[in-house]
Amino acid sequence: MPDNHSSEDHSVNDSDSQHLTRRSIRSFVIRNGRTTPAQTDALERLMPEYGIDFTPTTIDLASHFGRQAPTCLEIGFGNGDVLINMARMQPETNVLGAEVHNAGVGHALLAIEEHQLSNARIIQHDAMEVLDTMLGEECLDKVMLLFPDPWHKKRHHKRRIVQPEFLNSVARVLRKDGILHCATDWAEYGEWMIEHIEADKRFSNTAGAGQSSERPEWRPVTRFEKRGHRLGHSVVDLIYKKV
Ligand SMILES: C[S@@+](CC[C@H](N)C(=O)[O-])C[C@H]1O[C@@H](n2cnc3c(N)ncnc32)[C@H](O)[C@@H]1O
Repeated sequence: MPDNHSSEDHSVNDSDSQHLTRRSIRSFVIRNGRTTPAQTDALERLMPEYGIDFTPTTIDLASHFGRQAPTCLEIGFGNGDVLINMARMQPETNVLGAEVHNAGVGHALLAIEEHQLSNARIIQHDAMEVLDTMLGEECLDKVMLLFPDPWHKKRHHKRRIVQPEFLNSVARVLRKDGILHCATDWAEYGEWMIEHIEADKRFSNTAGAGQSSERPEWRPVTRFEKRGHRLGHSVVDLIYKKV
């Protein structure tokens, strides 16, 4: 999975940077990380059952989940620990995940199969495009963005997913009183999130302006969060309601 938490340069070359001016937020880099044989097998075998193919038209979520139910989208779920935990602990919720990374998607599919989760679905595609083309207005109850790549170098800040274009997309798909839940272990990105989200009057901080929330008990500590802990970073959960 992409590793943008380190202090190394991520070799985003000039031609890639130039593309950024012509396309929507490019918050990820596709990497050829190791995919285990079981994950590769899961991608082939289980995507037809639990995956939703990218399509540039609005989809009917109820028909994909086989029922009408409150629906939560997790963006950039990594290896899927939160998505799986949420689907297990909240069987009354439809849990949708968007992730681009093969190994993470394979890992999550294996867990969905293991726990026979009929309320989990995965879209392996850029979440920005998923938000803008596949999801209808006010179709979601919650959007989770946990430990997004912080793109810590100033010249890469335009790759941060939290920015006005993203907030427009989230505000469109969230129903009134729906939740946008972000978390980060990168202090400066936490401040950036607060600044950008609170500048958008469609979102209200459930903990009070500028405040972080306790990690909800249903949210397990993620892989990237554990790494942040090891590095001595403190973690903030920021939970906003769409007003
Ligand atoms: C730093 S990792 C965090 C993963 C996980 N949430 C965790 O806490 O362990 C960020 C993840 O977001 C994914 N990602 C970044 N931008 C994305 C996008 N636009 N659409 C889908 N996935 C994205 C990356 O592939 C990566 O797996």
